Formats: sequence, structure tokens, C-alpha cells
Amino acid sequence: MTAQLWDKVANQVNFNLEIDVQRFCQLVKPDARILDFGCGYGRITKQLKQLGYPEVLGGDPSAAMIKRGLSLYPDIDLIQLPQLPLPFADETFDVVLSCAVLTCMPSEMAQKAAILELKRVLKPGGLFHLSEFCAPMTKRFTSGLGTPMCYHTPMSCRSCWKTLSTWRMKSRPVELWPAIRLNAIEPLPENRSRL
Ligand SMILES: C[S@@+](CC[C@H](N)C(=O)[O-])C[C@H]1O[C@@H](n2cnc3c(N)ncnc32)[C@H](O)[C@@H]1O
Repeated sequence: MTAQLWDKVANQVNFNLEIDVQRFCQLVKPDARILDFGCGYGRITKQLKQLGYPEVLGGDPSAAMIKRGLSLYPDIDLIQLPQLPLPFADETFDVVLSCAVLTCMPSEMAQKAAILELKRVLKPGGLFHLSEFCAPMTKRFTSGLGTPMCYHTPMSCRSCWKTLSTWRMKSRPVELWPAIRLNAIEPLPENRSRL
């Protein structure tokens, strides 16, 4: 169970992948309900709150990450989300954000299950923001912290969405060898088909 591995390192790691703040703020209204999926210790949840988004909720399977986040940033909302399905009704959030989380899911099946679930809790016409480490070729490895990782290719990230029906994604790859950072933020069409 990878949550236990993340628990072990929760007080040692500092994450640094960025979200596309400028585009996010252009597209997302201040009253939006936002889910920061795989929030870790709430770094980006806190950032969004500081940017003027009070309705942001961070969720992570690692209890220790959540504990660290609540101690670092007592003013933000963080909850442990130990497993799927997520404890939210269909179409709860205006925005779902995921930063450096797919890279922690080496299994394609796990990734697709998560994406499907994120899609369920996102409102029609909602926004999905993805920031991800990618590489020119899929690269599975164990991080220095002992967590299983996978750099997906930009194409596999895109196809993950495409195969799940009407998700669209624009990418802005930035060469950061050995990783490529990929940011994407895209409204979902109102008339998306239900899966
Ligand atoms: C690299 S950290 C990124 C944390 C945060 N998004 C950030 O950028 O600061 C990855 C996080 O994903 C979480 N995670 C790992 N597997 C997950 C899964 N299957 N579903 C949701 N989150 C997961 C880990 O617990 C960890 O906190």
C-alpha cells in the first residue's frame, strides 16, 4: 500500500512542481469549489487559498501528509482520502487539480480508476488542472525515498484522458531533462457523455 510508504516520508519531503497559476486565475472564479487531489502536505491547497480561493479542499491517502499539512497550515481544509471511491457526490467540484500525483501511480489501471473518479466528482463544464512530470519514454523507478514512481510520456497522459471519453487536454511541455513538466488546464465540455 503506497500510502504507508508516503506516511513514512511525510516529514522528510518537500515538493516543488508548480501549477500554472496565471492561467488558473484567469479561468477559475474565486467562489469555485476546488479539489486538490493527492495534495500531500497541502502546499498547493495553501497556495490556492492565498490566491483568494476559500473553497479549496485538499485530499491525500497518506494520513501523515495530512497531519503535517494541518500542522503547517491550520487555516486550510485537508482530509485523508484513503481509497476510491471518493466520498463526494457526483458533480461536486468546479475544479479538480492534480499535481505530481499520476507520477506516483505506476499502474495504468490505478491511474485510470483515479481519473474516472475525478471525472465523476467534477461538474459538467468544470476544469481539470494537471501538472505532471513526464519523460520522453515511460520510466518506472523507485524514488530515493522508496516510493514507486513512473514518469509517463506526455502522449500517455493525454491518451489517458482521451480514452475516458470527452476529456481534452492542451499541453505546454517544458523541457526539464530528465523530466518534462506538463501543465494542462482545460474546461470540460458541457455535453460530455457519462461513462
Ligand atoms: C509528489 S507528492 C505531490 C503532493 C502535492 N500534490 C504537491 O504537489 O505538493 C504525491 C502525493 O500523491 C499521493 N498519492 C500517492 N498515490 C496516490 C493515489 N493513488 N491517489 C491519490 N494520491 C496519491 C501521495 O500520498 C503524495 O502525497
